[in-house]
Amino acid sequence: MSELHGKRVVLGVTGGVAAYKAAELARLLVKAGAEIDVVLTDAGAHFVGAPTFQAITGRPVWHNLWDSRMDNAMAHIDLSRGADVILIAPATADFLAKLTHGMADDLLSTLCLARDCPLLVAPAMNRQMWQSPATQRNVAQLGIDGVSVFGPASGEQACGETGAGRMLEASEILDELIAFFQPKLLNNQRVLITAGPTFEAIDPVRGLTNASSGKMGFALARACVEAGAQVRLVAGPVVLDTPRGAMRIDVTSAAQMRDAVMQAVDDADVFIGVAAVADYRPVGNAVHKIKKTAAMSIDLVANPDILAEVASRPNAPFCVGFAAESQNLASYAEGKRVAKKLPLVVGNLVQDGLGGDQNAVTLFDANGAHPLSQGHKLAVARDIVKHLATLISKGNSDAQN
Ligand code: PMT
Repeated sequence: MSELHGKRVVLGVTGGVAAYKAAELARLLVKAGAEIDVVLTDAGAHFVGAPTFQAITGRPVWHNLWDSRMDNAMAHIDLSRGADVILIAPATADFLAKLTHGMADDLLSTLCLARDCPLLVAPAMNRQMWQSPATQRNVAQLGIDGVSVFGPASGEQACGETGAGRMLEASEILDELIAFFQPKLLNNQRVLITAGPTFEAIDPVRGLTNASSGKMGFALARACVEAGAQVRLVAGPVVLDTPRGAMRIDVTSAAQMRDAVMQAVDDADVFIGVAAVADYRPVGNAVHKIKKTAAMSIDLVANPDILAEVASRPNAPFCVGFAAESQNLASYAEGKRVAKKLPLVVGNLVQDGLGGDQNAVTLFDANGAHPLSQGHKLAVARDIVKHLATLISKGNSDAQN
């Protein structure tokens, strides 16, 4: 997905060993469609040379305030003119201190001071430098000044120590940047989401499950975080990375999913049931592996309907259901919306949405059916968030009619 298409990013690289990750970051930014101008400090250029960035971005690299390539000798003005954002990665303790105090003694710091666009920093330093009162004061001040701080992460450091101060990985910074550009449609909303399949054990090695990968639910969790929501994600057994900023609760069975949801639902403004919850579970769960016989039968009992239970609570959150159908999508999805008294149901055909990276959905609400463009699940999730935010802001009190 060209998620940064049309965005102009000034990427500032200061002198830390994490500068090697900035080369990968530049590559990812270019791949995401952004136009990149790299600005190196003298120390940054000691770690990774200008030719590397020039080859990756296909554009000149800058590091001198007096660079004669700029016609008007005003690189500090021209580079930030028209930029959508200045991103400093890595941002050393020294550079953060400079930013805090408005110093302007090289091209990058002067550019930051003269900017007319948001400034984002990804700190990278030794854990003691990060924890030092001076750095913490500086970071707090930068926050007050409207600078966004990405990370740092905790972990093993180049100096051999372990702790907070590592720069985020290039892909994580890219995700943060993409999120930064998304409209904050769900600011202050607390969203609870279920995702993935459930697994209903028959015995210690066998069970009933389905082909849900969790991708749609995880994409929605990410889209909600990007939109400014506080997100809790109750996930069935899937192998997916947790979207940055979401709090994940792992469960296996429908009963565990129900319990996790009920524990969290009091603090939710919105509940989105994306999970493909098993409708039935085996009666009993054999402690030992069932031995093979010529024929076998399993008695099943219905699982609790989590979404229906949440939607029927006295102070129910705004509830969104999903419906995956193999036929008659409109009538079945609308039927589920009415039966469970939901303001919004997202309908998808099994063949479009189950397992893959793409989906094609139609939204069903009190005003009828709204087909969305087919696309990557994250793009579809962002479109669902837009519709959801509109319904919430309208207050849609008559949505269940
Ligand atoms: O995970 P992916 O591979 O990305 O695939 C995504 C998906 C196809 C699974 C997803 O987009 C989807 O459609 N999920 C709902 C699947 C479905 O049809 O569920 P259902 O018809 O059984 O349930 C309808 C709604 O009630 C759903 O919101 C479901 O989460 C909820 N439900 C159902 C049963 C139950 N016991 N508890 C529930 O909460």
